[in-house]
Amino acid sequence: MIRSSLLLALAIATAAQATAPHSDFKLTLSSTPSTPAARRARLHSSMSSLASSTRRDASNVTSEPLFDYFNGTDLQWYGDMTVGTPPQNFTVVFDTGSFTLEVPGTACGAACANQRQFNSSASSTFLDQNSSSTITFGTGVGVDPVVGDNWQLELELVADTFSIAGMTIPFGGFYLITNQTPTFLPDPFDGIRGLGPESAALFADGGYPAIFGMLFVPESEGGQGELTLGGVDTTKFSTSLLFSPQVGDGNWQLASEGIFVNRKTASILQNNLTLIFDSGTSNMLFEQSIAEAIYGMISPDIAPNTDEPGTYGIACDLIPTLPAVIDITFAGISGQDAFNLTIPSSELSSGPFTKKPELCQTLINVSEGFNLVGLSLLKHYYSVWDIDNQRIGFAPNGF
Ligand SMILES: *[C@@H]1O[C@H](CO)[C@@H](O)[C@H](O)[C@H]1NC(C)=O
Ligand SMILES: *[C@@H]1O[C@H](CO)[C@@H](O)[C@H](O)[C@H]1NC(C)=O
Ligand SMILES: *[C@@H]1O[C@H](CO)[C@@H](O)[C@H](O)[C@H]1NC(C)=O
Ligand SMILES: *[C@@H]1O[C@H](CO)[C@@H](O)[C@H](O)[C@H]1NC(C)=O
Ligand SMILES: *[C@@H]1O[C@H](CO)[C@@H](O)[C@H](O)[C@H]1NC(C)=O
Ligand SMILES: *[C@@H]1O[C@H](CO)[C@@H](O)[C@H](O)[C@H]1NC(C)=O
Ligand SMILES: *[C@@H]1O[C@H](CO)[C@@H](O)[C@H](O)[C@H]1NC(C)=O
Ligand SMILES: *[C@@H]1O[C@H](CO)[C@@H](O)[C@H](O)[C@H]1NC(C)=O
Repeated sequence: MIRSSLLLALAIATAAQATAPHSDFKLTLSSTPSTPAARRARLHSSMSSLASSTRRDASNVTSEPLFDYFNGTDLQWYGDMTVGTPPQNFTVVFDTGSFTLEVPGTACGAACANQRQFNSSASSTFLDQNSSSTITFGTGVGVDPVVGDNWQLELELVADTFSIAGMTIPFGGFYLITNQTPTFLPDPFDGIRGLGPESAALFADGGYPAIFGMLFVPESEGGQGELTLGGVDTTKFSTSLLFSPQVGDGNWQLASEGIFVNRKTASILQNNLTLIFDSGTSNMLFEQSIAEAIYGMISPDIAPNTDEPGTYGIACDLIPTLPAVIDITFAGISGQDAFNLTIPSSELSSGPFTKKPELCQTLINVSEGFNLVGLSLLKHYYSVWDIDNQRIGFAPNGF
């Protein structure tokens, strides 16, 4: 139903503490990898994008297209990469909410029937690390509820060469998916390439500066975004980038100093908050008190949809009447003022619930213990993820 449902998946990596047998074997494990989900990649002849990957200039900057899986919303994105020698093609979500690479392996068989599967026997540079692990996710794809461990990947730690947008990692660690719960089968992409704030080694191995830029372009404007590695594509925005410093460890996260709804605020919205920035999640996840304070300022008619715990909705026919501009204030880096990032009213609805089509899902889900923004904010900005300087920069992208 809600095709906007790229979900944060709070994953608990179990038994995944791999030790590196080679000095050139780099693997960063996330204690809280997220995952996402979107629609299947084959809607696009996305493979053509590799051919159009171009080095932008003589310095170490390279870009490739990001594709919008458009099914009513512009909240799900993926791009191409290759793994192995000779290269085998995959599509992945470039997920700032996680750290590792996961692609299906042939061992996954029918359980990964909708995904391309890496054949390690066909790669001359492959090395099995002989270490298996499991990731269980706290949220899944689409609207299916999480029940126990029904969102789970079985993984094998391996190493091989891989390449993204022309940046080649000669030999790096990643995971092959060897089995997955049926909940993952409809995934629109093959795998996940985590790009968390501790990805410096990935860029160092690839010979690029540890920085990347992301552009998302709505379907109505052509639907082709861009991932730039090693730098920033300054042709994609026209104002200065405003940067906010990374706070804490683990996920990309910034300090918010306040939230405004239609230019007004409330005391509960003026507390300092740490917000996770996740390109692998569609909408927003807030703790209940914050979500309900925001919703209360938009409309008293927004209420929990008890069919799907954590979600809220409102009669679809009321949506066009509701202003719902959300400004979130972020601390600036040293010497730079605080600034707002704005989510326009057009993001209020994620579309009708399947089981209650007269009810439209609103953009914030309740989640206990963390606060997160995803594509409904990021798609309005060119974003710069500066790993070396541990900060994220934003400039309006015009969409
Ligand atoms: C697009 O979304 C609709 C419901 O909104 C769904 O019925 C349909 O299966 C989706 N299409 C694809 C290709 O997933
Ligand atoms: C909110 O939860 C619903 C139901 O699980 C899901 O469809 C939707 O994608 C979720 N949104 C986010 C941002 O997690
Ligand atoms: C992989 O993608 C490249 C670039 O688009 C294409 O030339 C090649 O044929 C693809 N390989 C396979 C096996 O599909
Ligand atoms: C994997 O590659 C090997 C070597 O090229 C080949 O013999 C085998 O049939 C392939 N397996 C699959 C499942 O494609
Ligand atoms: C994993 O096991 C295979 C088969 O026994 C062996 O060839 C390979 O070297 C092992 N990998 C490591 C990292 O020890
Ligand atoms: C990146 O730049 C350095 C120094 O200019 C150079 O040695 C290196 O080969 C470059 N890497 C790539 C992938 O172009
Ligand atoms: C953010 O927006 C609110 C109105 O929604 C405004 O009152 C506030 O001054 C803005 N903050 C910054 C730093 O621009
Ligand atoms: C929020 O944090 C800033 C410094 O980061 C501090 O000056 C301010 O007093 C804090 N506000 C609240 C409500 O705690």
